[in-house]
Amino acid sequence: MVEIRFERPEDIDDVRVLNDKAFGQPEEGRIVDKLRISCNGILSLVAVSNNQIVGHIMFSPVTIEMQGSIIEGMGLAPMSVSPELQNQGIGTKLVKEGLRCIKNTTCPFVTVLGHEKYYPRFGFQRASKYGLKSQWEGVPDDVFMVNILDESLMKTVSGIVKYRDEFNEGEQTTLAI
Ligand SMILES: CC(C)(COP(=O)(O)OP(=O)(O)OC[C@H]1O[C@@H](n2cnc3c(N)ncnc32)[C@H](O)[C@@H]1OP(=O)(O)O)[C@@H](O)C(=O)NCCC(=O)NCCS
Repeated sequence: MVEIRFERPEDIDDVRVLNDKAFGQPEEGRIVDKLRISCNGILSLVAVSNNQIVGHIMFSPVTIEMQGSIIEGMGLAPMSVSPELQNQGIGTKLVKEGLRCIKNTTCPFVTVLGHEKYYPRFGFQRASKYGLKSQWEGVPDDVFMVNILDESLMKTVSGIVKYRDEFNEGEQTTLAI
């Protein structure tokens, strides 16, 4: 039985260990730790099984600057599931619960840089369809995706989606899958 809930302060060390293990490198865990400290408005959820943290997902604010105004959405990254429990639907639960929480707000869109076969099942589509571009050079068109939550607003918005600077401070860009 896997429960999805908000991350609590006492989960922080376990989340770091999980991210290090799932990614096989410390960069993603570091980004998570930095965002937690420096960024208002993150959404950090954990998957818990037998009192163990077995999954984690973070969403943080992203911005589009257009004609002098800023439109703010959320970016999904990173996400991790304990290697021995992958492919059992835990990641799916994390994405769905994250999107459910965000849909209760006025957030107009959620972006993800991830696998083109995984995220469409949650409502993500190619961002280029909406005139949205990744800030990072060389990102293939099909892996940068958007989940539109406010269709009428997003019809009027286009441009470059900028993630928090914490994502640029590591060795590499975090892909969501
Ligand atoms: C990506 C991840 C979070 C998915 O969690 P999960 O619990 O295994 O996912 P689910 O069980 O809900 O879904 C599994 C699906 O994802 C697909 N999938 C998993 N990893 C994938 C990858 N790297 N590339 C493409 N597809 C992948 C599986 O093939 C499966 O597809 P299917 O449902 O069509 O059979 C997990 O595999 C993970 O932690 N990976 C290592 C860390 C990582 O790469 N995170 C993403 C970058 S931020």
